[in-house]
Amino acid sequence: MKNFLRALRHVWPYRGRFALSIFCAAVAAVLWGLNFTSIYPVLKLLNNKETPREWVDRSIKEVQIEIDKLEPQSQPLQDRLKELDKQQSREEVEHQKRDATNALAKVRRKLAGAGVVLWRYESARRYIYELAPIDRFQTLAWVLGILVVVVTVKCFFEFGQEALVGSVVNLTLFDLRNRFYRNVIHLDVDQFGDQGSSELTARFTNDMESLGAGVKMLLGKVVAEPLRALACVIGACIISWQLTLMFLILVPIAVFVLSKVGRLMKRATRRLLERMSSIYKILQESFQGIRVVKAFTMEPAERRRFKAATRDYYRKSMMVVKIDALADPIIELLGVAAVAGALLAGSYLVMYDETHLFGISWLRISEQPLDAEALLSLYIFLGAIADPVRKLSSVFTRIQSGSAAADRIFAYIDKQPRIRGNSDGPRIARPALNAPPVAGETAPFIEFRDVCFSYDPEQPVLTNVHLGVRAGETIALVGPNGCGKSTLLSLLPRFYDPNHGAILINGHDLRTVHIRSLRQQIGVVTQEVILFDDTIFNNIAYGRRKATQDEVEAAARQAFAHDFIMKMNNGYQTRVGELGRNISGGQKQRLSLARAILRNPSILILDEFTSACDAESEALIHQALKEFKVGRTTFLITHRLNTLEIADRIVVLEKGRIIAVGGHAELMRTCLLYQGMHDAQAQRLVA
Ligand SMILES: Nc1ncnc2c1ncn2[C@@H]1O[C@H](COP(=O)(O)OP(=O)(O)O)[C@@H](O)[C@H]1O
Ligand SMILES: [Mg+2]
Repeated sequence: MKNFLRALRHVWPYRGRFALSIFCAAVAAVLWGLNFTSIYPVLKLLNNKETPREWVDRSIKEVQIEIDKLEPQSQPLQDRLKELDKQQSREEVEHQKRDATNALAKVRRKLAGAGVVLWRYESARRYIYELAPIDRFQTLAWVLGILVVVVTVKCFFEFGQEALVGSVVNLTLFDLRNRFYRNVIHLDVDQFGDQGSSELTARFTNDMESLGAGVKMLLGKVVAEPLRALACVIGACIISWQLTLMFLILVPIAVFVLSKVGRLMKRATRRLLERMSSIYKILQESFQGIRVVKAFTMEPAERRRFKAATRDYYRKSMMVVKIDALADPIIELLGVAAVAGALLAGSYLVMYDETHLFGISWLRISEQPLDAEALLSLYIFLGAIADPVRKLSSVFTRIQSGSAAADRIFAYIDKQPRIRGNSDGPRIARPALNAPPVAGETAPFIEFRDVCFSYDPEQPVLTNVHLGVRAGETIALVGPNGCGKSTLLSLLPRFYDPNHGAILINGHDLRTVHIRSLRQQIGVVTQEVILFDDTIFNNIAYGRRKATQDEVEAAARQAFAHDFIMKMNNGYQTRVGELGRNISGGQKQRLSLARAILRNPSILILDEFTSACDAESEALIHQALKEFKVGRTTFLITHRLNTLEIADRIVVLEKGRIIAVGGHAELMRTCLLYQGMHDAQAQRLVA
């Protein structure tokens, strides 16, 4: 529940609207309650053959007669009491005295009650004579006319309330989504990794919806419905507060039952949301990998997997539906039982024309014997309470659903990135945007000092990596798959921090430097190119939003991408999404290189960046790179021998350790692993 309340805090900025919605709800509730007051006069008019004037006159007369009858009873009783006082106190006398006192009290109470009723009728009489039509039918028409008008006004306020609550909920979700996104986008790379992007997508969409539904229920119903119930309770109390009280014992029982049901609901919803996350995952995997799915004719298997997941989702959602549906009948049953109890008691009073229940003196229910119309009105008021109460019952469960969703959302909002921005740390000097960095001045020197790293404590990925890189040097990393090359380079932009040892840049520990200034120095081209659904222009200018057309074109030319871009329908303004599959891996890699070039980094990281290129474009890129790497500290990972020509030094990695460093000729002489790799490739080239 804690996280749900935290979500509610985002409602605070919109408290004005919310307050207004409560006002609307209150007005609507009062008008709703007023509706039912029309029943009494309608029944009266239909049942009796008298006009309102006749009715009020007769009623006054009846009460008057009753008073006249009661008044003479009190005098003899008083006299008798006085007489008894004079007698000697004996047990018998005491007994008689007590009886007389009781009888007198009863008469007086009846008199007082009748007085109140008389006063009510007399004030009503004034209005009836002034306002009410003389004819019965006309009066009925009047009452119904007023009813329609009241309902119209009520509907107007109800609309206002709904609309206001809706806007508050949606604005709250708007804030919450952005807050959520802001937190998530700043998390560390591995904090995305542990659950996958589909998991996050589910939380952003499905869970947000659930949370929104919960908040909406709370803001829309938790205030409005009790107000409506209250209006009815007040109406019922005016008729007989004692009978109403009998009915209201229902409330604590209902709250108890609902809180139990709510707890079940929360658990069921959490399972449901988790299941939906896994469905998102299946969708993402199978759609992204659609080529693999088709090539391996795995459609039936994927269908089965999806069906199994959705079947399970169906089961879990049925659980939620059942729990949700359970609340309703329980409340209804309780309500009917309570109304029946109150009605039974009331009927007793009507049938035997009594004011006391079962003749027991302390069970006085009303001042005057109830008439049937009043009892029916009471019944309708109590019945009407059932409606808001029933609506409240689903609120309970829905809020629990929202609470489960809030837990999942806030789990991410509470995550803190381990890698801090170091806004006070030393900054890495940045080259002027258009001039290449100068080795030793802006191009940094880097040192890996005894670096150890593992994703999983059991399995070390990098062990005691020692490597000094001069400013402006080009280092090639080679080694078998999975030996930790990509991992080593992902430590440079601080996607991860080493578990042991340190990486120094210009003599500063990476962990202390200003992280934005560091990342601004780094240009990355990865094997897997990420293009955004935007124009080619914007994709190249991704890291430098203010770049001009000329600058972007220059970068594209340098990456040998300009020509193929110009062949596209809209040139630089072609949207990547429109291209679909009409762009090859090699072309994508060249766009990615252009993006890195435009950023003018002083550290360049190229991870198997020509892997998808054909020989021709690879040669072009090599040429581009030879020019571009001048004055930049460059790291490249490659399996291709000709790329190694660009490197000043080659580092051979095996199982996370550096086993050799040197030039091509030297390594051919000294390093067996390198020899083996070289020979294998040479054979392939020949073949
Ligand atoms: N995000 C990750 N989480 C856990 N293990 C990883 C992750 N990325 C890579 N690994 C593991 O670390 C080892 C080195 O991977 P990597 O650096 O990608 O190798 P290379 O780039 O040399 O082929 C591999 O065994 C790989 O399974
Ligand atoms: Mg790799």
